Amino acid sequence: MTTTSLQSALNSLPDGAPEDIVRKFFAPQFLEALGFQKQEVYPQYSTGNGDLVDEAARKTVGDDIFLYTKSNPYLLIEWKGRNINLSNNSAQYQSTVRQIKRYLLAPNCKTAQWGIIVNSCHVQLFRKHGQVVYPATQCLPLNNDNIDETVAFIRKKIETPAKALTVAVYNNKGGVGKTTTVVNLSAILAFLGKKVLAIDFDPNQQDLSSALGLPLSKGAVFKAVTEREADLQSAIQTYRFPVGKKELTFDVIPADEKLGNASDEALDTQMKRDILHRKLESSRHEYDYILIDSPPNWRTFSKLAVFAADVVLIPTKHNNLFSLENAATAIKKFIPEIQAEKADGSPVALPIFFNGEKITAPQMATAQKEIHSILQVAKREGFNLVPYFFPKYTSTTKDLHILQVPSYAIIAGAAFSRTPAVYRDRSAHEYYKNLAKEYFLQ
Ligand SMILES: Nc1ncnc2c1ncn2[C@@H]1O[C@H](COP(=O)(O)OP(=O)(O)OP(=O)(O)O)[C@@H](O)[C@H]1O
Ligand SMILES: [Mg+2]
Repeated sequence: MTTTSLQSALNSLPDGAPEDIVRKFFAPQFLEALGFQKQEVYPQYSTGNGDLVDEAARKTVGDDIFLYTKSNPYLLIEWKGRNINLSNNSAQYQSTVRQIKRYLLAPNCKTAQWGIIVNSCHVQLFRKHGQVVYPATQCLPLNNDNIDETVAFIRKKIETPAKALTVAVYNNKGGVGKTTTVVNLSAILAFLGKKVLAIDFDPNQQDLSSALGLPLSKGAVFKAVTEREADLQSAIQTYRFPVGKKELTFDVIPADEKLGNASDEALDTQMKRDILHRKLESSRHEYDYILIDSPPNWRTFSKLAVFAADVVLIPTKHNNLFSLENAATAIKKFIPEIQAEKADGSPVALPIFFNGEKITAPQMATAQKEIHSILQVAKREGFNLVPYFFPKYTSTTKDLHILQVPSYAIIAGAAFSRTPAVYRDRSAHEYYKNLAKEYFLQ
């Protein structure tokens, strides 16, 4: 068997090779195998936040050569030595993940869509969509036998990126605002010029379809999620809101009557866990956002929705302990369960937010105390949930900020007029624009 240049570069590295040796003897072959020429890679790229990322890369377009213009990177790479342990969720792994996320979100990296952490023993690819960074692969081991196919696999992902971010809106607890969030977030993202697909995957309640006044699917969705060949596109409808001579639109897959009538046992055998994810493949290349509404339980529909998602958005109520505990359970147990089956590193949870209750200062203090004890319990079980509850908290800032969508009668009343509240009311518009900006848009 012939040895490829990647294999021989890998084999040339001594066991504990530090970063400079890995970069000198392995990085050039690695970048070449990813499809980048020398002039398309720039070392020690300044992120604009005072950091230098080891390598930034972008393909040459016309005569715009990255090495010379040093602007608009597409991919960032953080190199480590073989003496740094990137496996098993180690502390070094976690700090390297934080590092690549920080770089991807820095001012000079706005155009970057991918990040890689690599030490030649392991490699992991991350995707950035707006301001959301999530894993695009698991942390993969590299060895002589798999290195060529692993790097080719990463190259293919980088060269054919999906356009959409798929978001499942989920909380085991009922009535926390899942459906309301999907309706209004879809509407505000459409208002902001994004192409949006909203999916009503709660066929027993059908709340999303009814809040938008759309007719139910009469078996098209059922067929798509139970039959291999049937497509989901035929079930898509368009929600239209006229504004003067123009209209705001977003697409919707309504709830399906036939799915609502089927028993759980029947559905469990007929619907493969990955079916919704697979049937959304072409939509991922068409839409900017795919938002999926799920039911308040951890059964078939929620599992399929979470499997189909890149990220999971979890609405909670500050005064409902169960909604907070359920968020923690989703992050510690349910989402990892799906991650293990899906095996591409996704989905991951976004930070929780408080929906639909007025919060006084003493109530906020009580909520924070509850969250503190949830975090303590999780810590004893080996989970760090701080970033999911207090995303801005660091040892220096001690910032306990949690985003709130306030309680607002017009939001509750909007379903009666079959119109998203954000299209009817300026305050509702601002609340959800705030949510979109804090969580999604760059
Ligand atoms: N920000 C808000 N202000 C006022 N009312 C709200 C707000 N968010 C949600 N509601 C109302 O709270 C109720 C529950 O919301 P919603 O149906 O979105 O929750 P859900 O989590 O989807 O419920 P389920 O678990 O039954 O699917 C609805 O009557 C809705 O109009
Ligand atoms: Mg609902």
